[in-house]
Amino acid sequence: MRIYKARDYGDMSRKAANILSAQVILKPNSVLGLATGQSPLGVYRQLIEWYAKGDIDFSEVTTINLDEYIGLPPDSPQSYQHFMRENFFSRVNIKDVNIHIPDGLQIDALGECARYDAVIRGVGGIDMQLLGIGHNGHIGFNEPGAAFEKGTHLIALSERTKKANSRFFKSEGEVPEYAYTMGIRSIMQARGILVVVFGEDKAEIVKRAFCGEVTPLVPASVLQLHNNVTLVGDEAALSQMGDGGDGNEGSAESAELAYTDEHLNLP
Ligand code: GLP
Repeated sequence: MRIYKARDYGDMSRKAANILSAQVILKPNSVLGLATGQSPLGVYRQLIEWYAKGDIDFSEVTTINLDEYIGLPPDSPQSYQHFMRENFFSRVNIKDVNIHIPDGLQIDALGECARYDAVIRGVGGIDMQLLGIGHNGHIGFNEPGAAFEKGTHLIALSERTKKANSRFFKSEGEVPEYAYTMGIRSIMQARGILVVVFGEDKAEIVKRAFCGEVTPLVPASVLQLHNNVTLVGDEAALSQMGDGGDGNEGSAESAELAYTDEHLNLP
């Protein structure tokens, strides 16, 4: 695992945007797994700026978003579809046909999850997955206890996540109960994973996820088993990580851990 310590949110966003941008420059038809939330927002802003300057081209890029609330129309300001269009897609030259987000209005859950997994397979898998981490260690909407071997599935949001995400709604009561999320299996099958974390309130979960036991109770801890993870965080978020986070490779121990199907009990 590589850990990069950033001075602040802006620095974190630039460092992460540089990594994504390098991915797209080296492979113009990259498949990018994308996330919502405050953590990746600055990354999108930076990429938009570089696109406007002519430094990066998204015309061949495909995007796969992690998750979507169930029951919110795509034009609802709180839907992830809306978040992504407002904050990224409408400001760069990604083709509409190459944008993929679970359909939160689809009531045939099994069908929608199977469709989304087929989309991921159909584009050849994800080259680089951008991730934030929830306060309880969730990635996408894989809440504590989520089975590591799942593909896309329907989940019930935990009370903690509903509370955390209520900042985007008028009240907690308006936060949807359910969401579709890519599963941990799909996330772990990405060829590279880029995690962005900022703020002191993430410090404890970041330590548990990357220095603690690998357990479904802390979904992000599974990332320790992936052999190509880059963690970019500001000083506050990385403050409990001990000697790591100095801009160098992570510990030999984590670097040597290779992700194999055996770890996840995959077919
Ligand atoms: C939501 C998203 C996650 C995101 C998390 C943390 O629950 N489903 O993908 O990582 O929020 O968001 P933030 O970066 O705003 O803390």
